[in-house]
Amino acid sequence: MEPTRTVSIIGTGSYLPEKVLTNRDLEKIVETSDEWIYARTGMRERHIAAADQASSDLGAEAAKKALEDAGIPATEIDLLIVATLSPDMFFPSTACFVQEKIGATNAFCYDLGAACSGFLYALDAAKNQILSGAVKTALVIGSEKMSTFIDWEDRGTCILFGDGAGAAVLRAGGEGRGIMQSAMGSDGSLADLLWTPGGGSRNPATHEMIDQRQQYLKMQGREVFKHAVVRMGEAVLQALEKNNLTVDDIKCFIPHQANIRIIDSIAKRLGIADRIYTNVDKYANTSSAALAIALDEAVKDGTIQKGDLVALTVFGGGFTWGANVLEWGK
Ligand code: ACO
Repeated sequence: MEPTRTVSIIGTGSYLPEKVLTNRDLEKIVETSDEWIYARTGMRERHIAAADQASSDLGAEAAKKALEDAGIPATEIDLLIVATLSPDMFFPSTACFVQEKIGATNAFCYDLGAACSGFLYALDAAKNQILSGAVKTALVIGSEKMSTFIDWEDRGTCILFGDGAGAAVLRAGGEGRGIMQSAMGSDGSLADLLWTPGGGSRNPATHEMIDQRQQYLKMQGREVFKHAVVRMGEAVLQALEKNNLTVDDIKCFIPHQANIRIIDSIAKRLGIADRIYTNVDKYANTSSAALAIALDEAVKDGTIQKGDLVALTVFGGGFTWGANVLEWGK
């Protein structure tokens, strides 16, 4: 295959599991209130996957919708990436499970670990594989069953997350500039502010580890909040500069859906409050799925139209962060 100059998103899809858990429901699980959660986070409810649904099941549903939207069969996918911090298991990859479920028999598949930033990182990786000419069509999925990795006894974290998946099909060519250059960064020195310390090779599964509840996500919320605001704001400006654009050129900004106060702070810093897309009230923080779900919804509800410039930005554990810009060509 020849290298291409443009890579476009030709289809999107998302999937939210049926069960809805409201703030009122959470009042029965931990000592909290609808008022506290809404005031601090902007969240009203979140979706929770069924016991027999794993991340690959959610991801496969989103993928099928994205393929339908793109109008192509799964066999045309050359590369399949799943961004997730809640994989079905350590190995094989969740991407391989998705491949099997959707019949993407010609794809090579892998998972990408960048916590909540995963979908944007995966978009960038897939775009560059296509730009190089190595593949023509890629399926990128953000899929999370966060409900299995959060501590339902910790009111500081369990109220924040939800389950869900989003997907995008990328292809060489298309009208306009397509997916442009990204600005991304990481800082491993701050890993312990947001992590799941148990279960891996550092702190393997033992009775003691489980008793200490180390298999669950731990977060220092205030610190994470501060870094998220600064890093996402900076990343957007860097991505705009790389692509010779300004804030005024952008029709729609889609930030990571972690907390409405984080989103509002970024909007205020950049002066973009009138063009910011959020659905955190309905789904809470679905980690790597959040950006993918929001992009799909913004396209389907007409917020994003052909020719619009859209800026995406993310922040997550690692720390990891990034932003990119795309011209919607569909
Ligand atoms: N209900 C009621 N009270 C609570 C709850 C709750 N669910 N959780 C904490 N509190 C209490 C605390 O115990 C504390 O009480 P104290 O003053 O008596 O000690 C008080 O509320 C204030 O707690 P803080 O943690 O300081 O509250 P804060 O205003 O920082 O809000 C929050 C907490 C919502 C977690 C906020 O820090 C936040 O959103 N941080 C960013 C989190 C985030 O977005 N993480 C993910 C980003 S990356 C990714 O997506 C993986």
